[in-house]
This record gives sequence, C-alpha cells and structure tokens, in this order.
Amino acid sequence: MKHLLKLLDMTGEEIIEVLNLADQLKYETKHGIEHHHLKGKCLGMIFEKSSTRTRVSFEVGINQLGGYAVVLGAQGSQIGRGEPVQDTARVLSRYVDGIMIRTFAQQEVEDLAKFGSVPVINGLTDFCHPCQVLADLMTVREFKGSLEGLKLCFIGDGNNMMNSLIVGGLKVGMTVAVACPEGYRPPQEILDFAAQYDCFELTDDPMQAVKDADVVITDVWTSMGQEEERKKREEAFAGYCINSKLMAQAKPDAMVQHCLPAHRGEEITEEVFEAHAAYIFEEAENRLHAQKAVMVKTMA
Ligand code: CP
Ligand code: NVA
Repeated sequence: MKHLLKLLDMTGEEIIEVLNLADQLKYETKHGIEHHHLKGKCLGMIFEKSSTRTRVSFEVGINQLGGYAVVLGAQGSQIGRGEPVQDTARVLSRYVDGIMIRTFAQQEVEDLAKFGSVPVINGLTDFCHPCQVLADLMTVREFKGSLEGLKLCFIGDGNNMMNSLIVGGLKVGMTVAVACPEGYRPPQEILDFAAQYDCFELTDDPMQAVKDADVVITDVWTSMGQEEERKKREEAFAGYCINSKLMAQAKPDAMVQHCLPAHRGEEITEEVFEAHAAYIFEEAENRLHAQKAVMVKTMA
C-alpha cells in the first residue's frame, strides 16, 4: 500500500488486511509485545483543522512503532500563509518518512501524494475520513465476529463520514443503508460508486434505513468548516436524531458507532449514546490500532 488517500483506492481485500494487522497490533500492545516496525522513522503531521483523537492516536502510535512525530499546524507554519502544497510536499519528503494530513480539500491530499515522494495518509478531509472508518470496521468486526452480510445504517449528513462508510462498508461485503435529508446527500462520485451494489439504499426516511440494522452510525450535523450553516442544518436534520424509538427498529443486538466528538441531544440522544458507550469508546481506542496498521502498511 503506497498511500491512504481514500477508501475508494483500496480493494476490500486490502481493507481486511489492514484490519487483520490492526487486530494483531492491538493484541501485541495489550500484551506488552514490542513491535518496532518503524524504528527511527518520522511521521510528519499537518493539521489545518482541529483534532483530539487523530492527533493523539497518530503520535502515540508512531512512538509505539519505534518512530516519532513532528506536528505542523496551519497556524505557525508557511502552510497557513499559502505556501503551495506542491512545494510543501517536496520539502517535507526530504525530512520525514511519511505524512499524515488533515485538511479541507481532498485535492490537497492527492497533490501532497502526487508531488511528494513519501507515503501520505489522509487524517480527514471534507470528502472522507478513511482512518476513522477503518477503526469503525475493526470495532464492528471485534464485537460481531465478521462484517460480511451485516447491515450498516448511517443517519445524518452526507459528509466525510457517510462517504467513507458507504465505500468501506460496501467493499467489505456489508449491506449499507443511509438516510439523509435532500440537499445533504453524498456527492455524485460516492453515489456512482454505490450504484454498482444491490445492497445499497439511500432514503430520506431514518426509520426505513435503520430497519433490522446491525450497526447504527451517525456524526455531527455541522462539520468543521461549516459553522456558519449551523442553524440551517439544525432545521434540516430535525427528525434525524438517533433516539430509542429509532433504535427499536434496528436488530435487538444492534450496536451504535460515533466517530466523536458527539453533540448529545442533536444527532444522538444522551440515552442512546451512554447505552452504547462501550462500543463508541472501543471505536475511539481502535483509531490507534488501525492507524498503526496503516502506518506499517505504507511506511515500513
Ligand atoms: N473522530 C476524529 O477524527 O476525532 P478528532 O477530530 O478528535 O481527531
Ligand atoms: N464530520 C466531522 C467529523 C469529525 C471527526 C467533521 O468533519 O467535522
């Protein structure tokens, strides 16, 4: 695996290989078994948006692999002052062994990979959040035993999370149903991809999407960079909150996932969130293990 720019670039088999390695690294971490696959290697991390989980899990992860990280924020670096990505890519490639980037435009991540000469890992763009979805799939498999044939339901915004879940879920053989209001659907590129699968459903009715689901997932209604649309979005997404009435339509043993941060009382009720906290925080932990697997696959 050269880069992780988006799940669309991966095959289902490659995704499963990452999950298998992530499971192994999780086991080794829990049992104190050293795994310095990236001894002495440096991960450069670029953050043009806020982060808690991605920031900490990548830095802890590269350290556990025997390497270390250098963090660049938009503020305080020349990136924030408009230095072209083509130049940043060529400079950083001479210092570091891999780059993780969190930014707005997917094209910036693609360009970093195109102009640089080291592996690039997408730590979230407006278009997708592949590291998060690898951790989600890892968590679902951990609790359910397998992925194939399970029904994954996402309720909410056609955003980076919905996009990556559609692609990742379908590629590993899940049935995927998504509910979003008109005007907030995933981009055409994702819908075209999903159209190849009979087991994909897009609706504006959350009750229909959640029916018999094994996994129910949501995310914030207002993503980073969309803060000015908050009020309009709250109105558009009324009725898309994951509450106990909605969960009653899912399978009795359905599990909830949320990439976090969560807005209780908006996209999910406090009650449902806390009832599924064990799944949600295992998901957060699995960011660490899944990303270590991605770093080993791309940087070793
Ligand atoms: N889920 C996630 O990516 O969290 P952060 O924004 O805290 O990194
Ligand atoms: N959709 C959210 C995910 C945060 C991890 C955002 O982009 O802000």
